[in-house]
Amino acid sequence: MREAVRNFIPKNRIWILTQLPAVVMGMMLTYNGSQWELLTPYSAYFAVSFLVLTLSLNPIKKLKPQWVWVLKLNRHRRQLGVASFSCALIHFVCFLIMRGSFYKAVPYFFHPAIIPGVWVAFPILLVLAISSNNRSVKKLTFPKWKQLHRTVYLAEGVIIVHMILMGEFVFALCFFVPLVGLQLLRFKNTPV
Ligand code: HEM
Repeated sequence: MREAVRNFIPKNRIWILTQLPAVVMGMMLTYNGSQWELLTPYSAYFAVSFLVLTLSLNPIKKLKPQWVWVLKLNRHRRQLGVASFSCALIHFVCFLIMRGSFYKAVPYFFHPAIIPGVWVAFPILLVLAISSNNRSVKKLTFPKWKQLHRTVYLAEGVIIVHMILMGEFVFALCFFVPLVGLQLLRFKNTPV
C-alpha cells in the first residue's frame, strides 16, 4: 500500500503538473468565491494556452521531427488536452458565480458571445476529456475515436469566435494565428 502511494507521484507526475493550475484555481474559488473576477481571465487563458499547445505539437512534430522536446511533449498531449478542459471548467464555474447561480446564469447562455463557449466549445472539451483514455479508444475503435477527437477543430474555431466577441481580438490573433499557420503548413506538407 505504502509502495503504491510512493509510486503514485512519479507515475502520475505529468497529470499532477498539468492539473495543478485548475486545482489551485478551484481551491481559491472554494476558499473565496469572490475571486471569480480574478480567475475568469486566468482560467480562460490557461484553457486556451493548454489547447493551443496541445494542437501545435503534432504540426511541429511533422515539420521538425528532429526537435526532441516536441517528441517528448507530444507523448503528453492527452494530459495537456484534459488540462485545457479542467481550466475551461473553472472558467465556467467563475461565470456561474458571477451570475449568482446556475439558474440565474441560464438566460446569459443565449448571449451571442457566450453561445460558442457554452453550447459548442465546452461540451466538445468535456466529451474529449471524458474519452481521453485507452478504454474509450478500445470501446469506440480507433477510427471512430479519432473522428470524435477531430471535433476539437470545431472547438478551436468557436473559441476564436468567443474571444473575438468578448473583445479579445488581439489575444485571439496572438494565440491562433501561429496555430492556424502551423496547421496549414502541416496540411501543405502532407502528401495526398
Ligand atoms: C463554458 C462556457 C463559457 C462561458 C459561460 C464563458 C464566459 C466568458 C465570459 C463571461 C468572458 C468575459 C470575461 C470578462 O469580461 O472578463 C469570457 C472570456 C473569455 N473566454 Fe470564455 N466562456 C466559456 C467557455 C470558454 C472556453 C471553452 C474557452 C477556451 C477554452 C474560453 C476562453 C475565453 C477567453 C480566452 C476569454 C477572454 C479572457 C477574459 O476576458 O476572461 N471560454 N468567457
